[in-house]
Amino acid sequence: MAISIQASYSISPSSPTSYTKVAIAMHWLIALLIFLNVSIGIYMESFPKSAPGHDAVLFYHASIGSLIFMLAVFRLIWRSTHKPPALPANMASWQQTAAHTLHWVLYSLMLLVPLTGYMHRMAGGHPVSFFGLGYLPILIGKNEPLRLLTDSLHVCLVWVLCILVIGHIGAALKHRLIDRDGVIQRMLRV
Ligand code: HEM
Ligand code: HEM
Repeated sequence: MAISIQASYSISPSSPTSYTKVAIAMHWLIALLIFLNVSIGIYMESFPKSAPGHDAVLFYHASIGSLIFMLAVFRLIWRSTHKPPALPANMASWQQTAAHTLHWVLYSLMLLVPLTGYMHRMAGGHPVSFFGLGYLPILIGKNEPLRLLTDSLHVCLVWVLCILVIGHIGAALKHRLIDRDGVIQRMLRV
């Protein structure tokens, strides 16, 4: 696993020095939507499901979450056709492996967190509206054990995502304040 991750970043004469404008725009748009949807999710859980307004908040939470899933799929397709810049050569190899592994775990969670939310709603017999424009396909029928499982999974994966994002931001700050190796600039340059 580490070998294939490493290979996809390997330094070659054709390695770009920065992410593409699309990759940068996708990174910050998805980051913003994740911060927004975590806040909406926490707010939604602060009052009972029977309270007036709960369904309206869930409507926006599920729509924004579905949008994150779609953008993440597009971002992964873009990434597979646009090589990312190699990490600084003076970074220890274990640090490079850790950074690449964390990035792939973050990509997985960008898909798995919305998917478990979507499955939770379907298993509860509730179709998921996308901003009122239409309903997402109903792929599974009502299923109580699956509803309970995906409920726990959604909440657990969200908190794993939050912890890893804090680590990711910490690593970015270390590059900016201690290493001063221009890694943050690669994700800011437009
Ligand atoms: C990246 C996208 C998403 C993020 C970051 C996210 C985040 C969250 C958070 C923070 C909570 C509150 C967790 C808690 O109880 O402490 C939550 C709950 C919930 N989310 Fe999401 N969510 C996302 C996508 C979705 C999607 C796409 C759906 C449905 C289609 C969904 C449905 C739900 C439901 C139904 C709950 C309430 C679960 C319960 O009451 O136990 N979420 N989400
Ligand atoms: C304030 C918040 C954030 C900062 C300062 C930040 C910073 C950065 C930087 C500097 C990079 C480039 C690393 C490199 O060149 O190798 C990067 C890459 C990345 N970030 Fe963030 N990030 C933030 C939030 C997020 C969030 C919320 C997510 C999603 C969960 C995320 C997911 C990723 C991924 C997957 C990559 C790897 C891109 C690739 O090489 O394909 N970031 N981030």
